[in-house]
Amino acid sequence: MKYKFAKRMDLLTPSMILEISAQAAADSEVVNLSAGQPDSPTPDPIKEVGISAINDNFTRYTAGSGIPELRKAVAEKVSRESGIERTSDEVVICNGAKHALANTILALVDVGDRVLLPKPYWVAYPEMVYLAQGEIIQLPMAQETGFRLTPAQLEAALAADPKLIILNSPSNPTGAAYSREHYDLLVPLLKESGVMIISDEIYDKLLYDGIEHVSLASYPEIRDQLILINGVSKTYSMTGWRIGWAVAHPEVIKKIGNIQSQMTSSPCSISQKAALEAVNQPAEELTPMLEAFQQRRDRAVELIAAIPEVEFLLPEGTFYVFFDVSAYLPEVPPDEQNPIRSLDLAKYLVKEHKVALVPGMAFGADNHLRISFAASMEDIEEGIKRIKEGLAAYR
Ligand SMILES: Cc1ncc(COP(=O)(O)O)c(C=O)c1O
Repeated sequence: MKYKFAKRMDLLTPSMILEISAQAAADSEVVNLSAGQPDSPTPDPIKEVGISAINDNFTRYTAGSGIPELRKAVAEKVSRESGIERTSDEVVICNGAKHALANTILALVDVGDRVLLPKPYWVAYPEMVYLAQGEIIQLPMAQETGFRLTPAQLEAALAADPKLIILNSPSNPTGAAYSREHYDLLVPLLKESGVMIISDEIYDKLLYDGIEHVSLASYPEIRDQLILINGVSKTYSMTGWRIGWAVAHPEVIKKIGNIQSQMTSSPCSISQKAALEAVNQPAEELTPMLEAFQQRRDRAVELIAAIPEVEFLLPEGTFYVFFDVSAYLPEVPPDEQNPIRSLDLAKYLVKEHKVALVPGMAFGADNHLRISFAASMEDIEEGIKRIKEGLAAYR
């Protein structure tokens, strides 16, 4: 049978990380530093609400855009945290932040529409834009500028009249977070251009050294342009429950709800109840997890700093360290369009040195590797030791 798939499938890149994950899963000796999720279980009070929802037969379709209580709780949370009042009709609950992003991109991006994508980027953004057949304009961000867009760079890029820009702070993979001073320079440019803005703030609670999260939702002047994305996955160790949301103007929310109602009917009823419990938890509940992550980040960066010729930016947030290993990589031939040196290196490290991590090419940065420190201290120490040995033997 010769299958004739839709042309859009030609644009989609299958996950290159899967091969490494499969190898890591198949070999019990591998130390896995590739995970994009907290290693702790969902807190008991949240699990109990999920169990009660099942026992209470809260197991039917819900409203397509989510249960009213959760939409209201999210609106209140965003109002509280941003200082700008939001209402339930500005919130749609989706099956994870990833789903909220995909719905938003489908609702906004037409064939050929330009989308600004700062690079390094989270792996799924370009693929979602490709599926919508939008045109990506990459905006390379250098380690020297803190992996942040400069105002001059943004201004030049906005001249191309893009429909959408996708921002992510704190950033996966770099760990960089925009400060208020920095946003104060970018926001007037965004406002003036009228571009739609996705701000993915899924790591907003995972910040270190006392740094405070700055949400783009706290800028009233871009309120109508903004789609704020967040969810419960990372903050509450709820990756498998699949609950995230978009917060935007009611007209945008309605369109996202329309897509969702035809594609998935509604988010999972049980998970929505559990997410409601999570969103309503007092902030202090997060303190033990944050303290553990701070210690792990400090140890991870101390150990990576001791690897000769490796460079990195101190991650301000997330649970990733993104480090430049170009000193260990072969030269790229001048005619090479899509180098995969970091993938080769990652495959070698998992096979020969039994440590799994994510190659930078997945994020559009082939000089880099990304480790996750959402792992035990023992695994962090052993894993980075193996990376160090592996790199020394690689060239
Ligand atoms: C930057 C970023 N956005 C969104 C997501 C997706 O989160 P969710 O589990 O809510 O779909 C992830 C998960 O890795 C992420 O790193």
